[in-house]
Amino acid sequence: MRKPRSVRDAEVGGKRVLLRSDLNVPLEDGAVADDTRIRAALPTIELLVEQSASQVVICSHLGRPEGPDPKLTLRPVARRLGELLGQDVAFDERGSRLTLLENTRFNPEETANGEGYARELARLGDLYVDDAFGSAHRAHASTVGVAQLLPAYAGLLLERELTELGKLLGEVERPFVLISGGAKVEEKLGVLKHLGRRADTVLIGGKMAEELRDENPFDFPVVLPEDVVAASEFGSDADRRVTPYDELPEGWLGLDIGPVTQRRFAAEIADAKTVFWNGPMGVFEWPRFAEGTKAVARAVADVDGYTVVGGADSVRAVNEIGITDRIDWVSTGGGASLEFLEGKELPGVAAIPEA
Ligand code: 3PG
Repeated sequence: MRKPRSVRDAEVGGKRVLLRSDLNVPLEDGAVADDTRIRAALPTIELLVEQSASQVVICSHLGRPEGPDPKLTLRPVARRLGELLGQDVAFDERGSRLTLLENTRFNPEETANGEGYARELARLGDLYVDDAFGSAHRAHASTVGVAQLLPAYAGLLLERELTELGKLLGEVERPFVLISGGAKVEEKLGVLKHLGRRADTVLIGGKMAEELRDENPFDFPVVLPEDVVAASEFGSDADRRVTPYDELPEGWLGLDIGPVTQRRFAAEIADAKTVFWNGPMGVFEWPRFAEGTKAVARAVADVDGYTVVGGADSVRAVNEIGITDRIDWVSTGGGASLEFLEGKELPGVAAIPEA
């Protein structure tokens, strides 16, 4: 596997460092609702400060704005970052020792990888460190354009993600169980095909199962749900009924895997020595449809082997269920982790010279 050169090998003392982090976090009422990605960004920032960089200029996107949008300002993220670091983080102020720039996507040239914006960013640093694994599948000005204009290095999180996820692409201890759920079936199909052939068992729940039930295009062992927790409508207070998967009443929706499936999945997971889990088993945000996701989460936490969870919803689920510290690697990448496991080269990684 290609290994980008590391920030640990960069001479940062007295230099201005432009750092790309992935601080694309959920906001609620103008405050940070889940700071997992901010915490994951801390080690590289601390390293740069400790090694006496004269300035650390952090940049990130937030959401998918079409242009400047006050609802998607990174100001609350700067505040939270400052609290976690225990030092002031200036917001969008050039010349400060430690600053977080405003949302890169407020500039339409960001997603188009426009040279003008890449140059504007490059003027802020003597060297560039990319720690934004979650955005490494995007060829944008702040992930790829700027890496072509400044000496570029990989940050600690980016490196660690490549190492941990890379373990799933190499020799793994068996049985290797792959668990896939949630929506975005199109996005996940590639990973399923690539990793599924290497897995001993593939457990599929959530919306994925519904889409794949009628047509099973896989040439590896797939376990689909036998029963389902059905809801009379799509709502947290909807009538709820457990039914065999094939007997879903007309007009009802399957919003979680049923108890038989939960036990079957848990038993498969209990034997595993390697697990990759992406995507919840149902609408776990609603307590009445959360049992399937919880059962899978507990089973993964109990595995005596190597466990990886990736994707924003699954990460949120393990955080809410409180088992994050019992998972070996919780990836900060959603789409990026999937593309990596699909065997694709990530443009943000390819833009950094090799070690
Ligand atoms: C993510 O949340 O997966 C990354 O931050 C990338 O965001 P994007 O899908 O809007 O490019």
